[in-house]
Amino acid sequence: MTFSRRDFVKTSVLGAVAAGVGAQAQDKEAKKNAASQDHDAQSGARKRPIIVCANNGFNYLDDAFAFLKSGGDTLDAALRVVKGPEDDPNDDSVGLGGLPNEEGVVELDACCMHGPTRRAGSVGGVRDIKNVSLAAKAVMQHTGHVMLVGEGAERFSVAMGLPRETLLTEHSRKIWLLWKEFHSTDDWWGPGLADPHWQAPPAKASDEKPRSELWRQRIEELQARAAEIGIEPELRLAAVRKVLFPPTGTIHCSALNDKGEISGCTTTSGLAFKLPGRCGDSPIIGAGCYTDQDVGSAGATGSGEENIKVAGAHTIVENMRHGMSPQEAGMDALKRIVRNYNGDMNKVRFIDMTYYILRKDGAYAGVSLWEGYSKGHPHKIAIHDGSRRAEVAVSLLKGYSQEFPPFPEIPEDLKNSSEYLK
Ligand code: GLY
Repeated sequence: MTFSRRDFVKTSVLGAVAAGVGAQAQDKEAKKNAASQDHDAQSGARKRPIIVCANNGFNYLDDAFAFLKSGGDTLDAALRVVKGPEDDPNDDSVGLGGLPNEEGVVELDACCMHGPTRRAGSVGGVRDIKNVSLAAKAVMQHTGHVMLVGEGAERFSVAMGLPRETLLTEHSRKIWLLWKEFHSTDDWWGPGLADPHWQAPPAKASDEKPRSELWRQRIEELQARAAEIGIEPELRLAAVRKVLFPPTGTIHCSALNDKGEISGCTTTSGLAFKLPGRCGDSPIIGAGCYTDQDVGSAGATGSGEENIKVAGAHTIVENMRHGMSPQEAGMDALKRIVRNYNGDMNKVRFIDMTYYILRKDGAYAGVSLWEGYSKGHPHKIAIHDGSRRAEVAVSLLKGYSQEFPPFPEIPEDLKNSSEYLK
């Protein structure tokens, strides 16, 4: 994809808006990817078979690619990738060890689409079942429904042979407790008045202190509390970040074989500390994942509520159906998210979204709303088409969604970038 001049000007303006300028090397890599992922401009560069996924699937690509290459089904190949993070207790965005809801209970969502048979399955709000991606496939294969939620989905999963197990790890429980105690000036959690660790509530923004000072103080207090809770020193800052910016995690994977068959799946523990029962985009066919055997496949990680409102994955596949390249199709979906906030960067900066896009001919793209969640942490997609690699996603906006600590402020005159919406 080549940006139009107007796009370029708009993106440059937004670059000035964003909370920092990307490292030069990262910029260079993103530009290289912008060109190399634009397979419309490089006919012959497309390869099949190919698997595209979120970067937390990187370690599982070799096995899935070998399976796909030896004639394995495209959905089963994609499921092999996402099962890795689901089984990994150290990946706190998916399956076992996922960050829990506000009550400290892990609730998982997943969906899948099988291109060759044009079928779909989905589960939402599932507790105690680790491999919800397999539960979604079982809904597709063994019921006349597309989506099961909550207790019914759990009982169905057990009937399908998936074991019940405790999904909350000690690591995730401690981060949840830190989050819970962060609100302890508003409720009865955390140290009480008589506890030697009790501290007066932090000053409000209306007090004399500058906001940067208030943030610094808050982060220090949270780090001290994290130590009390028993979070290891090297994990404390990451835990504090998760408390201040509850992550959405997730993994998506799309797989295409040499015959042109294509499938996709997405699985997640959803937004950390969500209300019990909240489902994001991941179990929603058309939002977290969409596959059309005639066109291609797309999936998402990031702010679920925003992605549902633009039916992101379906929008992208439809855009490709009507002639857009994978990258153009993804950029259009991202612009719709910005449009939903009238370009108000004070709000858009709290949203994050990455799309993973694979067209039926093997062309692919990874696009993201922001460059990453903070400097040095670019959004990446992982690819295997015979060579396994990670590539920096091409971002719509320059800057980071969750600069940490969350500064600097957006300049007043650029707060509402309505130019962007034209
Ligand atoms: N994208 C995952 C979620 O919002 O639940």
